[in-house]
Amino acid sequence: MKNIYSNIFKFNTINLAKAINYLKKNHLIAVPTETVYGLAGNAYSKEAIKKIYSLKNRPKFNPLIIHYLNYKDLSNDVVLDKKFFKLYKKFCPGPLTFILKKKKNSRIANITNNNLHTIAVRFPNDKKIKMILKKLNFPLAIPSANKSGGISPVNPKDVSEEFGNKLKMIIDGGTCKIGIESTVIDLTKKIRILRPGIIDKSQISKTISSKVLISKTLKKINSPGLIKKHYSPGIPMKLNQKINHYNHAFIIFGKKHNNKKNTFNLSYKSCLKEAAKNLYKTLRKIKKMKYKKIYVVRIPNQKIGFAINDRLKHAAAK
Ligand code: TXA
Ligand code: MG
Repeated sequence: MKNIYSNIFKFNTINLAKAINYLKKNHLIAVPTETVYGLAGNAYSKEAIKKIYSLKNRPKFNPLIIHYLNYKDLSNDVVLDKKFFKLYKKFCPGPLTFILKKKKNSRIANITNNNLHTIAVRFPNDKKIKMILKKLNFPLAIPSANKSGGISPVNPKDVSEEFGNKLKMIIDGGTCKIGIESTVIDLTKKIRILRPGIIDKSQISKTISSKVLISKTLKKINSPGLIKKHYSPGIPMKLNQKINHYNHAFIIFGKKHNNKKNTFNLSYKSCLKEAAKNLYKTLRKIKKMKYKKIYVVRIPNQKIGFAINDRLKHAAAK
């Protein structure tokens, strides 16, 4: 049997050159970012973008995030305004994705954003992906490196489990620092968070001195990609539980339920940042252990907890 991990490559000069070569030839590679691992392809190439949709089995209506090294490379593709620059200065590179108006002469392939008038853009803050972007003269479309609807990968082995040897290369960047996807903010209409993340509403609102709305993602779908069921381990989940039942997996937070059977603690010291980092790792582990059902305790709903609960609600959606 072929080793499923044989396409994981250490990041060194030779493999950097290999990665660049693949991307220039419109092949896909998996890359680490500070949030989750992504599946990267040339955003100016229809051929590469088609490969992303096909490999992920992603619905065509769900647009991709385009990743740039910095704002200088961006001005040909989207319209930039004052609010963008304020947020950029404060949070970028970092886990923040902007929805901006697409320019008419933008070279971003139309199938990347389902012919919308907007594009999602992000400036990742990870040394390795930054070095790759620096060597390219095109931006990269990078969705999370998982099959559509599933759990985002937070280390190279997760990516390998998703795609096996269908990928030529997975760059090893260790475990992602943040562990959940970037905050997505729409700057084209009323300012609105479409996907919560570790950069929260109050930080954004303070930076641009404006009111910031939050999409009720499970009620009304504002972002084309905000499909109700998402981030899913493929096992029924029940949230806000006080005790575990039978032999279900029990995802806990803090000291209260520790040392009981079948428990998986997101953070013993009740740290929401640590819980975010452990969330997908835990869901993937439970899935592998073949539990039939997952119960989850209530996770505090402020700051990063709001983003964790967003992912849990989607994962538990029927
Ligand atoms: O942290 C991240 O953002 C990761 C890493 C790899 O950078 N990427 C990521 O990409 O999470 P993806 O494709 O899994 O999620 C992109 C989200 C989807 O919910 C999509 O619908 C939304 O961004 N999106 C993309 N373009 C959009 C647009 N023009 N308008 C509204 N939402 C958009
Ligand atoms: Mg995703």
